[in-house]
Amino acid sequence: PALTQDDLKKLAADKAVVYVKSGMVLGLGTGSTAAFVVDKLGHLLKTGQLTNIIGIPTSKRTEEQAKSLNIPLTTLDEHPVLDLAIDGADEVDPDLNLVKGRGGALLREKMVEAASKSFVVVADETKLVSGLGGSKLAMPVEVVQFCWKYNLIRLQELFKEEGVEAKLRVDGAGKPYVTDNFNYIVDLYFETPIRDGVSAGKEIGKLEGVVEHGLFLDMATAVIIAGTSGVEVKTK
Ligand code: A5P
Repeated sequence: PALTQDDLKKLAADKAVVYVKSGMVLGLGTGSTAAFVVDKLGHLLKTGQLTNIIGIPTSKRTEEQAKSLNIPLTTLDEHPVLDLAIDGADEVDPDLNLVKGRGGALLREKMVEAASKSFVVVADETKLVSGLGGSKLAMPVEVVQFCWKYNLIRLQELFKEEGVEAKLRVDGAGKPYVTDNFNYIVDLYFETPIRDGVSAGKEIGKLEGVVEHGLFLDMATAVIIAGTSGVEVKTK
């Protein structure tokens, strides 16, 4: 039978946990692919194949999952340097730059992954793009709730040339989606891929009241891509 997308995510997760060694301080990602990684870590700890692991979750959701699997947890306050972080991504470009945050966890993800000596991304081949913003799906920006409309309009202005539609993210009930950090998310939908990710990230970052954006540039040390023809590890 043909492999499902979940099968591919599990294959990527299987490969990623090989990088985990006993004694590591580990960043635990958020999203459906990262959840498979956390499940496997729980299993490896339970069976004694890994010992002395301590995790830093990137969202409340992942924290709950890790707790349910008895994975010991810590924080960046206690462990400011991680050995390894493993997480999914929404888009992966040929230079291993990423878009992340469709699951809403971008701020904690970026803090934890930037603090990690290495950062391994797990994804299925549907996440590959030739340019960031090219999937026609959202590029998230976390903004404070205060005058979010003002920042939505400023974001829209910033990318006038690319052609962008900025939308406040809402939950299933049509209410604004609130992040773990009590902020809102403005999702940017680009008509054409972002030409210069570095300058885009800088310009977004300059806006007062913008907390973080979903461009994860020059952060991944390896990307594990699972496709129907096999699993490929891309490194820089
Ligand atoms: C969470 O905020 C995101 O950055 C996720 O890492 C990303 O959405 C990938 O999720 P999936 O593995 O579910 O596609």
